[in-house]
Amino acid sequence: MPFGVLHGNIGAVESWVSARMRARFGGRHVSGAERLVPTPQRQEAVAELMRRCQVDGARIALTLEPIRADSIRKAPALNAATIHVRSVCEGLSLAEAELRERSVSELAARRAVETLTRGRNMRGAALMDAQTGARLDPNREKGVRVSAFDWEPGARERAMEWAQRRGLSFRFIDALALASKAASAPFVTAEIGLSDDPNYLPGYAASRAGGYVRFTQMKRRGDPNGGRVYLIDSALFDAERSVKELQSAPVLIGGLDAEAYMEKHTWHISSANRA
Ligand code: COA
Ligand code: AMP
Repeated sequence: MPFGVLHGNIGAVESWVSARMRARFGGRHVSGAERLVPTPQRQEAVAELMRRCQVDGARIALTLEPIRADSIRKAPALNAATIHVRSVCEGLSLAEAELRERSVSELAARRAVETLTRGRNMRGAALMDAQTGARLDPNREKGVRVSAFDWEPGARERAMEWAQRRGLSFRFIDALALASKAASAPFVTAEIGLSDDPNYLPGYAASRAGGYVRFTQMKRRGDPNGGRVYLIDSALFDAERSVKELQSAPVLIGGLDAEAYMEKHTWHISSANRA
């Protein structure tokens, strides 16, 4: 039941809370995280969010928003893969090729990569027409922030164990949940992303059909550029409704399938037999 409203035990919990934390220090955003939990679990969720902000003296904004159970959608976790690449150049060009394999035009795929690497970070994701490469987000300086999502109850802990066994961090689990919400929107054809942390070099391309494909190098150490670009099927996109859906439609991500991860090196494979 990938896209329906929740049923069974989860749907039986009538009252849910979207708990969101963002922290600023020295005028800069330094940390942000969120949970979507049954109301009785909100205190543990808030405690966990507070632990996530490691910066002493940060100014923290915490939002707790009640959410009706019947407004929550369920979406599947994307299958994931890590591709070990030999260079930044190879990582970027394989990520671009991954977009092309998911029906993104050559022009739009190239523009998406340029948007990530051109040195003008945004607070959210750029929305780009998957064919023409035209920007579709209402505010191009800010982009759109995807919010109001979490792993379904219990799945986060299992996902953390799953990730640790494979040498991946909580950052990967968060990024996979975020990409899984975005990919579940019918108007999102594919996505490409790169952290703006100067010491975090991997990036990814993601889509419903291709899963979340992480490339070990998509930027050089010390490079502060980063971002996310959603490639949009404009026939299914409505500026107001679709942006609102990304920003605030509550979504719970289904548990990870233990088999749904693979790890490869580009010197052992060609991009064609990755999937
Ligand atoms: N950089 C700079 N400013 C940011 C920011 C960022 N990354 N995130 C939030 N802000 C600031 C902006 O000033 C924004 O105001 P604006 O809309 O006028 O620009 C303000 O915070 C409110 O943002 P909003 O998203 O509405 O706040 P929120 O409290 O509802 O949610 C987050 C904050 C951080 C929890 C949410 O935006 C988010 O990122 N959720 C996903 C968390 C996650 O799991 N990320 C995984 C990343 S790998
Ligand atoms: P991060 O992976 O957290 O380093 O973020 C890298 C970039 O991705 C940010 O600079 C934003 O442009 C974008 N981004 C981060 N979080 C979100 C989000 N929740 N929704 C949309 N874009 C985001």
